[in-house]
Amino acid sequence: MTAKTAPKTYHVKSFGCQMNVYDGERMGELMAAQGLTATDDANAADLVVLNTCHIREKATEKVYSDIGRLRKHGANPMIAVAGCVAQAEGEEIAHRAKVDIVVGPQAYHNLPDLVAKATRGELGLDTDMPVLSKFGALPARRKVGPSAFLTVQEGCDKFCTYCVVPYTRGAEISRPWQALVDEAKSLVDAGAKEITLLGQNVNAWSDGDRDLGALIRELDRIPGLARIRYTTSHPNDMTQGLIDAHRDVEKLMPFLHLPVQSGSDRVLKAMNRSHSRDSYLRILDRVRAVRPDIALSGDFIVGFPGETEEEFADTLSLIDAVGYSLAFSFKYSPRPGTPAATMDGQIAPAVMDDRLQRLQAALNRDQAAFNATTVGRTCDVLIERPGKLPGQMLGKSPWLQSVHLMTAAQIGDIVEVEIVRADPNSLSGIETIRAAA
Ligand code: SAH
Ligand code: SF4
Ligand code: F3S
Repeated sequence: MTAKTAPKTYHVKSFGCQMNVYDGERMGELMAAQGLTATDDANAADLVVLNTCHIREKATEKVYSDIGRLRKHGANPMIAVAGCVAQAEGEEIAHRAKVDIVVGPQAYHNLPDLVAKATRGELGLDTDMPVLSKFGALPARRKVGPSAFLTVQEGCDKFCTYCVVPYTRGAEISRPWQALVDEAKSLVDAGAKEITLLGQNVNAWSDGDRDLGALIRELDRIPGLARIRYTTSHPNDMTQGLIDAHRDVEKLMPFLHLPVQSGSDRVLKAMNRSHSRDSYLRILDRVRAVRPDIALSGDFIVGFPGETEEEFADTLSLIDAVGYSLAFSFKYSPRPGTPAATMDGQIAPAVMDDRLQRLQAALNRDQAAFNATTVGRTCDVLIERPGKLPGQMLGKSPWLQSVHLMTAAQIGDIVEVEIVRADPNSLSGIETIRAAA
């Protein structure tokens, strides 16, 4: 490799989950702290950080097409591959795609050193996994939007047989209590009204005998913080303390994303999910008992190896039983190095397409039905951005629905709204005139 001039501008593009987006923000802050200027145009940046995702084949492929595009249209930028593809493929990707830097999700605090290396013409490679030292080495949070992410837990020890996350993110680890309380306060100081606590298994977070419910109760005390959310949870880590927080903490929004993947016990077992259809449904009953209006969300995989039509039908009946307000569904994608990739009974693409279509029809039906139940209700909306029409703003309901409304309120304000109309993917509301106190 040849030496390059030190970059003056940077662009970070994140491809993955919310934790990947959080990492992208923190890498940006790190570059800004080094004196680089952010640019929205990847083709104009001296340094482009591609913050990749490895979860499904399509996500992984995106990075290669992006690198090709940058080479064609960009001003010969320094290219850093970060994120989960960097972790999974390591040095191989540097040779295959001729990039300057390869940095894993637990090593990006070393980005400044890696940029210096690449400037000298050496490959900047770091895929070590010292999770906690990363957080300690990052600069303070900059200005953030009204809804901010805070990673509290990383990694996964669950080893579902289809999933790469335990390999790309490493073992489960919880950030310490005080670091999180401090970061939450600095996010609120930087403009956040809502904080979403993040982790691959966020409800596995613990510090000593304190669980996520205890952390949420502590964050509840931060003045100026109006809303708390968390994602993604695993059914087996749904502690009573966390369920009770849904009963007691008003700032904790009535929304739970609890992926189930399949409604068939045979498939759940083959997936190594370590919960059954029934134990999952019982957890939802316990949550609904303390917070009857909670909106439920899930993730589903169709076409796991060996999935029969009857087993798929079990997933459809589970969906009927739950009534999700929102859901994410995927065709099974065999991932290199995972046990499921070499299992017998891989499902034909046409069968997967058909099942995904039927699954999504059921999920869309339930989402529309849930949205319809909120018409006529009055709720708080956190304003997040301007809408398409003049005077229109877009915000979120407590149940994570997008709400359009005409208002003079500004981004970050919370207004009381009467929901007057539900569309499949969003609501419309009218700002209510609060009675003068
Ligand atoms: N830790 C979270 C989810 C992480 S990945 C959990 O266990 O719920 C997000 C979603 O991607 C998963 O819930 C699953 O539905 C999907 N997913 C993961 N690996 C996949 C694969 N190999 N093929 C298709 N979908 C996959
Ligand atoms: Fe992947 Fe399963 Fe861990 Fe979720 S719990 S990250 S699906 S291995
Ligand atoms: Fe993708 Fe890594 Fe997140 S594989 S989903 S970016 S943890």
